[in-house]
Amino acid sequence: MIWGSGAREDALSRVLRNSGHKNVWAVPGNPGMPHRMTHDDPAFIAEHMRADLVVFGPEDPLTKGEADKLRAMRIPVFGPGEDGARLEGSKQFMKNVVTVARVPTAVYRTFDPTQLAKAQRFAMDLIGSCGFCVIKTDYLAAGKGVLVTDDAEEAKLDIAHKLKKGSIIIEEYLTGPEVSVFAICDGTNSICLPAAQDFKRAYDGDAGPNTGGMGAWSPLPFLEDGFEETINRDFIQPTLAELRQRGIDYRGCLYAGLMLTPRGPKLLEYNIRFGDPDSQVVLMRLDPEYDFAGLLLAAAKGDLTTVPAPTFMDQTAVLVVAAAEGYPISPRTGDIIEGLEEAHRLPQVEILTAGVAKEADDNLITSGGRVLNVMGFGPDAYMARKQAYDALQLISWQGMFYRTDIALRLTP
Ligand code: AMP
Ligand code: GLY
Repeated sequence: MIWGSGAREDALSRVLRNSGHKNVWAVPGNPGMPHRMTHDDPAFIAEHMRADLVVFGPEDPLTKGEADKLRAMRIPVFGPGEDGARLEGSKQFMKNVVTVARVPTAVYRTFDPTQLAKAQRFAMDLIGSCGFCVIKTDYLAAGKGVLVTDDAEEAKLDIAHKLKKGSIIIEEYLTGPEVSVFAICDGTNSICLPAAQDFKRAYDGDAGPNTGGMGAWSPLPFLEDGFEETINRDFIQPTLAELRQRGIDYRGCLYAGLMLTPRGPKLLEYNIRFGDPDSQVVLMRLDPEYDFAGLLLAAAKGDLTTVPAPTFMDQTAVLVVAAAEGYPISPRTGDIIEGLEEAHRLPQVEILTAGVAKEADDNLITSGGRVLNVMGFGPDAYMARKQAYDALQLISWQGMFYRTDIALRLTP
């Protein structure tokens, strides 16, 4: 069973079905997905169907301890418990774990609401020494938690504002391209999947507001061979070891958001789940013969050493998100989506659904910001892009928009 409803969960369902397991259900899924069970409590379905494996999509239920509840019922779960989920829920916890584990990350300090003057002084020191500072909330702030600035006055105001609501982290400014690495973890062992890159800003040329992601591609030709193994050795393994020290048995996907700085890769953040849309370009390249369900089940049971390592098709995947007008601020909904069937018929194209609903006459309509993931596959990024963008030409609804520059530049 897959817990969730977006395009990431659509990709997970397809890949698990491909690997020979026909009884795969997404709960609640979305109306574009053929194998879904609509129920507002996925845990109820998992319990009553005695699921062989539950794979979590989003972070929300994990931070609320849903994985722990299922484990207590002896259901194998791919996703960390509430304790491990703090890696995404609290930046202070994450920074503390990785600092003790000696994982490369930006220099930082944390400040509580009583430390306004100290925090402002630290930010001024950073701006003085490297030109910029980065101010982050330790609490969830709906995508508005991070400010990167070189302006002393702006930094001071932001710190005062954020400290009113809780603790903050101020850190060194890093530069370089960002990449995502997804590690499959069984508490002790880990396997890193090929790296992907996502495009977070709404408009071409990395302009406009931050979004959940407007596109992605993988594999990345600018990375050295062995990059993922290095990340496994220097980032994931020490992190799992430090978590174990703290009594945390992390079974699930550990998603490292990395910046490739001139002084080597550094960790920006950990997420406790697969990325969306960046994991889709990795998952959908898995070899159709590879038993991915077997891999996730082995991780859930705590022994990855019993299964073969994943293998991938020798193709590049480029994914473009088709979004609704107004996304990410206030997406317009209820528009009929045209041209999906024609686009589906193109070779080397896959379309994943996310923010969609079904009308009484079975038409798919828009119901969220990120509506579709249109994916092209090819021998290189150029061909994969062409497939994706040719498919997008056939799809339309009132106000649909997408970025035209996904995977356009092959070097960072
Ligand atoms: P986070 O939520 O910590 O991943 O931060 C969101 C985004 O802010 C990242 O994807 C980066 O683009 C940017 N960012 C975060 N931390 C830094 C940093 N130390 N230096 C430069 N940019 C950063
Ligand atoms: N692609 C960014 C995320 O899933 O958080």
